[in-house]
Amino acid sequence: MDLPKIAGKAPIMFDAQKDKNYAWCTCGLSENQPFCNGAHKGTDFVPQICKETEDKKVALCTCKLTSNAPYCDGSHKAC
Ligand code: FES
Repeated sequence: MDLPKIAGKAPIMFDAQKDKNYAWCTCGLSENQPFCNGAHKGTDFVPQICKETEDKKVALCTCKLTSNAPYCDGSHKAC
């Protein structure tokens, strides 16, 4: 599998709603970061479907190097 494209070097804050799915882009090709827009088609990547158990603000990874997807873990600092 190819490496994902680095879509950004800082997380994007998102107000997640309890029990509402969102599709986090894993390939880095989406122009609607940090969410999937279908640009992964033709690659080996698929979006990661995520859901929070409560309303909360989350920091979503855009560099795609996090070890705690979909959340930022600071890996962008090494980009
Ligand atoms: S556009 Fe990146 S996973 Fe869908």
